[in-house]
Amino acid sequence: MYIFAVFSKMFEGKQNRTPQWQARLIIVCALLSHMVRCQVRYSIPEEMVRGSLIGDLSKHLGLDIRRLKSGRARIVSEEKDCVELNADKGILIVKQRIDREELCGHASPCSFNFEMVLENPMELFSITVEILDINDNSPAFANKEITLNISEVASPGAQFILGSAVDPDVGLNALQSYSLKPSTHFTLKEQTFADGGKYVEMVLKSPLDREEEGEMFLTLTAADGGNPRRTGTVSIKVNVLDANDNAPVFSQAVYKASVLENSPKGTLVATVIATDADVGSNGQLEYYIDQLTQQNAMVFTLNPSSGEIRVSGLLDYEKTKQFQINVIAKDIGGLSKSCKVVIEVIDVNDNPPVIALTSFSNTIPEDSPQGTTVAIVNVKDLDSGQNGNVNYSIDHSLPFKIKSSLVNYYTLLTNSVLDREVVSEYNVTVTAVDKGLPSLRHNKTLRIRISDVNDNVPVFDKSEYTARILENNSPGVSIGLVHAKDEDWGQNARVSYFLEESQVGGNSIASLISINSETGLIYAVRSFDYEQIKDFEFQVKAQDGGSPSLNSNVTIKLIIQDQNDNTPHVLYPVPTSSLVAEMVPRSADVGYLVTKVVAVDMDSGQNAWLSYKLQKATDRPLFEVGLQNGEIEE
Ligand SMILES: *[C@@H]1O[C@H](CO)[C@@H](O)[C@H](O)[C@H]1NC(C)=O
Ligand SMILES: *[C@@H]1O[C@H](CO)[C@@H](O)[C@H](O)[C@H]1NC(C)=O
Repeated sequence: MYIFAVFSKMFEGKQNRTPQWQARLIIVCALLSHMVRCQVRYSIPEEMVRGSLIGDLSKHLGLDIRRLKSGRARIVSEEKDCVELNADKGILIVKQRIDREELCGHASPCSFNFEMVLENPMELFSITVEILDINDNSPAFANKEITLNISEVASPGAQFILGSAVDPDVGLNALQSYSLKPSTHFTLKEQTFADGGKYVEMVLKSPLDREEEGEMFLTLTAADGGNPRRTGTVSIKVNVLDANDNAPVFSQAVYKASVLENSPKGTLVATVIATDADVGSNGQLEYYIDQLTQQNAMVFTLNPSSGEIRVSGLLDYEKTKQFQINVIAKDIGGLSKSCKVVIEVIDVNDNPPVIALTSFSNTIPEDSPQGTTVAIVNVKDLDSGQNGNVNYSIDHSLPFKIKSSLVNYYTLLTNSVLDREVVSEYNVTVTAVDKGLPSLRHNKTLRIRISDVNDNVPVFDKSEYTARILENNSPGVSIGLVHAKDEDWGQNARVSYFLEESQVGGNSIASLISINSETGLIYAVRSFDYEQIKDFEFQVKAQDGGSPSLNSNVTIKLIIQDQNDNTPHVLYPVPTSSLVAEMVPRSADVGYLVTKVVAVDMDSGQNAWLSYKLQKATDRPLFEVGLQNGEIEE
């Protein structure tokens, strides 16, 4: 084999489409025994348009165009069907676009062989076409976008595989480097697989904080070394995953609220609000009341999700004026924080004043001096402020007054002299009214009895009594009744009657009269004789049972009435056993006063009125007696 020549030529291609490429021509010829066999080698860039010149075969092989025609030049064993022989011009041209990457992949150099045959005489030329790489491919990533979920608590140094880009070009046109922007949190690191393949990973260099930046957008750029350089990019979206790295935070450290006592169940008192910077379950909060203050919170309930504190029991200002509750907010991850809730209970005028008797004498003597203490009362109002400020009073028309002694203690005193005989009992109502709005009141009635003192003397019904009795009465007969009344009460009013000692005609009154000390009935002790005594007076004493007793007396005039118990007595003429003779002159005329009969009667009144009558006369009535005067006439 002889080497004829080695050429080398450079083609300048069309500036616009393929600005920089080279084609090299190498011709090697060998003269064999009966035929010339030449080898031609062309180098052309890939991607030349159809019809582009590969090489001037006739020139390079020193063959005349006519020889090519007469020799019926043709290409054989060209499987790729990429080149074409223009026998008229003796040139080799591109039959169809050649893609180096398609033809050879990563193999380099990339070429294909074929033969050109001439007949008469038979000649065989071997032609090699090498396809040169042009930077017609950009590095490309498998995906347009990579999404990475990275926990915010990932520690620096953590690695995240991004994979690799592919650039089918070779040499400098192949993938050369990666870059990442922005590079605040991550750096790039190239790694090699066991099989030599390369990939890139992202390394965390500074800590993440979801609460600050929950999403990041980065761009990974792969660049080749071509001129100009081609790049491929992929967007990386980093979702920073929440970690429970934030505790709940209350909007206030101390909540202050107030609620009226007796507020109905369900009344909203306060709402605590806590927030948690974390998301999802890490930020999901539950409120509850701290065990330590649970006792205080019996009357409140806390809604675990809304943080609303509502009344659930009985609020009594008089029992508890303030509640302090610790409320804890806890996220599902277990981080917690507490706050204090101070609830003031506001007083409502729900307690009436209460009057209690501390000491009380329910009976006082009527002679108690003005200002005597009757009772000490205690007035209490459990409310506070004006609701517990109490005014007290009693009925001013009663003879009592009330005055404040100690705080909350009042003394009830008599305010004038009392008289049981006028009013024996008082109902004194003490009224206590508080100054709440509306006010509440309480009354207490003290029933005060006035006890009797023997301050009244018995008083007889009449200032003087007159009794009459017929003489010759039988002894023991009742002659009258006296009665005295005593305004006092009980023993003090129990009246007894006695005769006052006195003398009547030398006799003790007791020998004439007696009295029933209980009933006041007066009796005659003996029979009276009008002709001896016509009337007399005596005194009866009425005495009460008090100690000392009081008494009074009354005068009773007893009049003895006459009975016709005496016959008249003739005084003149003096009655003798013999006849009385009166001398009458003969000449006496009619009407001549003969004599006068004088008679008396010891009785009185009509019983003593006398009338005269002649009992025995002669045949002829010679004498007459004056009926009235006892004068006897002829
Ligand atoms: C006082 O009150 C009592 C009981 O209500 C009653 O029986 C009594 O008659 C009252 N007394 C007076 C003097 O009003
Ligand atoms: C009877 O009472 C009067 C006054 O009421 C008194 O002057 C008189 O002395 C009394 N008589 C006797 C005997 O006590």
